[in-house]
Amino acid sequence: MQSDTDGVNVKRILVLNGPNLNLLGTREPEIYGRLTLDDINELLRVRASEADVDTIDFLQSNYEGELVEAIQKARGRYDFILLNAGALTHYSIALRDAIAAVPVPVIELHLSNIHRREEFRHTSVLAPVVMGQICGFGVDSYIAALDIAIRRLQKDTK
Ligand code: DQA
Repeated sequence: MQSDTDGVNVKRILVLNGPNLNLLGTREPEIYGRLTLDDINELLRVRASEADVDTIDFLQSNYEGELVEAIQKARGRYDFILLNAGALTHYSIALRDAIAAVPVPVIELHLSNIHRREEFRHTSVLAPVVMGQICGFGVDSYIAALDIAIRRLQKDTK
């Protein structure tokens, strides 16, 4: 983690969302809820500012390569990544390799409980290279991931 000029640690968090998460609010609301991605990001922004997070940035992309690049560029710029990779979770070796290549801890998260859904969703190719996985709590999966990142970063400052 970086320190500012007074030696106080700086907390920088990147929230990444993958394919189709731009459709939240109208996409299968019985599974994913009625909040839009903007609603979720606003909740995270408020929580982050209450916890003195210095930077919280958001990126959603429907393109695997754009997410890979965002992870590559996170090196040295962010202290934590919160990642809902959507369907890429289940098959993107490129995303997995990017996570493994960059020394920024990643929390994998999902709105739905991927383990109680179709069999193809039970496998996450990302799970072996992330810090941990949170799924099944709707918007609270995002909040929990942020809270964990904040707690980890606060521990680093002690
Ligand atoms: C998801 C679960 C994935 O299986 C699915 O492809 C998504 C959303 C979730 O947040 O529950 O797009 O990541």
